[in-house]
Amino acid sequence: MKISLALAFLGIFGALSVAVAEDRYQFFTWEVTYGTIYPLGVPQQGILINGQFPGPRIDGITNDNIVVNVINKLDEKFLITWNGIKQRRTSWQDGVLGTNCPIPPKSNWTYKFQLKDQIGTYTYFPSTKLHRAAGGFGALNIAQRSVIDIPYPAPDAEFTLLVGDWYKTNHKVLRRLLDYGKKLPSPDGLLINGQRDSAVFTGQAGKRYKIRVSNVGLSTSINFRIQGHTLKVIEVEGAHTLQDTYDSFDIHVGQSVAFLVTLNQGVNAYYIVASSRFTPNVLTATATLQYAGSGSKASGPLPVGPTTDVDWSLKQARSVRLNLTANAARPNPQGSFHYGTIPVVRTLVLANSEEHINGKLRYAVNKISHINPLTALKLADWFNIPKVFSLNSIPDVPPPAGTPAKLGTSVVGLTLHDFVEIIFQNNEDTIQSWHMDGSSFYVVGYEYGVWKPDSRKTYNLADGVPRYTVQVYPKSWSAILVSLDNKGMWNLRSAILPRQYLGQELYLRVWNNEKSLYTEANIPNNALFCGLAKHLH
Ligand SMILES: *[C@@H]1O[C@H](CO)[C@@H](O)[C@H](O)[C@H]1NC(C)=O
Ligand SMILES: *[C@@H]1O[C@H](CO)[C@@H](O)[C@H](O)[C@H]1NC(C)=O
Repeated sequence: MKISLALAFLGIFGALSVAVAEDRYQFFTWEVTYGTIYPLGVPQQGILINGQFPGPRIDGITNDNIVVNVINKLDEKFLITWNGIKQRRTSWQDGVLGTNCPIPPKSNWTYKFQLKDQIGTYTYFPSTKLHRAAGGFGALNIAQRSVIDIPYPAPDAEFTLLVGDWYKTNHKVLRRLLDYGKKLPSPDGLLINGQRDSAVFTGQAGKRYKIRVSNVGLSTSINFRIQGHTLKVIEVEGAHTLQDTYDSFDIHVGQSVAFLVTLNQGVNAYYIVASSRFTPNVLTATATLQYAGSGSKASGPLPVGPTTDVDWSLKQARSVRLNLTANAARPNPQGSFHYGTIPVVRTLVLANSEEHINGKLRYAVNKISHINPLTALKLADWFNIPKVFSLNSIPDVPPPAGTPAKLGTSVVGLTLHDFVEIIFQNNEDTIQSWHMDGSSFYVVGYEYGVWKPDSRKTYNLADGVPRYTVQVYPKSWSAILVSLDNKGMWNLRSAILPRQYLGQELYLRVWNNEKSLYTEANIPNNALFCGLAKHLH
């Protein structure tokens, strides 16, 4: 009797909203405007949120409900996506063009989502029109609930660092280059929290700090290090790792990592350094780790880091392992989901390529260069609007050599709870970074060359890390395993913005025919309508 009452109670609340009564709400009103910023010493137009560049940080706790009213005061349509936030059962809130109609200028739209069962270091950024090149991004940190133990000694405080490459050029000018089918030039610099060399983080000697670092750039991998201090890796994108110590650490575009750093040196000031990886000219940004009580400035040579060495990065990537006994956002051990024993029901081999289509630069996946239709895919799917997309419009494996690339709208049809293997095959000579919305995936291998079925023998089927963003080294592959337990339309994209902008992305439609609020939330009542769905408003 008690149980059925409880279920009935849950049923009512489940039907009304995703939230359960006890979970906290946090409300934000964000005004998005242009404003003049000087990150590299020259004035340029930036995108500000409530006057800030980078945007305000969200400090959440697992299961918080987040409500953000985004007021678009730009002259262009705008959306924000929440990088690594699972949006359980509600791709309606994902904020990418396949799930949401963009917010028109001079209007506003309110996101509502829950940080359900998540913990760790995340970011948000604009997903529209290359806006990320002008700002609009910020940090989204999720702390554990009070009843949850963390698998490392509690830090005395935290620092949050957003690192990324930066152009002095206006985002509309950069966008026009891409629209004309040209490549972007090399970035002009790197920034740490919007500054080239002036951010200061002050701590006490002897104390321990959690330093969260995210790569919010457009296309450049970075190496991160702190003069005189080591970095103990504790978390990558919500997974608690085995706590290994490194002198420096690579972070690729779209990725987030948290370190524990103990201030165990003399009371002084030390350089925090981010430098570019795999670029012809090494770009560097610095900040200061200032010990309280020291009036000095950081000095001496900057600590050296790797520059173009791929092997170093690949070996480091393989060394990052999941702590199987640690919990994450829930108390059960992370290792209790034995991903290595689950049969794979489908394998996708996704090969990126640089193409010229109609004389213009494009990027493709299995020879399809994605175009976002005017009708958001999720709306077309929900209302059965024909001719917007078709399922399996992109082949599961790369087509034979010589197949010409074409423009298309790439949607892979998958069944809810499918356990899928995806190989990102990079035959190009540049680093790639791939991001999946809606689900974290287990990274099971990084290897040089061309993937073949036999390559599975090298997979890490025991303690690979579940995360949202994986790098793929030049002329190499990376393999992931993912349990598609989140119904919806999910973006799988190059985190490298010019590549995504020119077509290196696709959507995974995770579906079953059961119409139930337990598997997918209803269309929100404030949904925007666009394209062929406009009349449904
Ligand atoms: C727009 O903002 C107003 C408050 O300023 C709010 O009442 C309204 O719900 C918002 N509209 C949407 C679609 O979120
Ligand atoms: C793994 O997590 C446990 C907590 O379950 C912790 O005590 C241990 O130190 C962690 N091990 C490593 C190597 O990080």
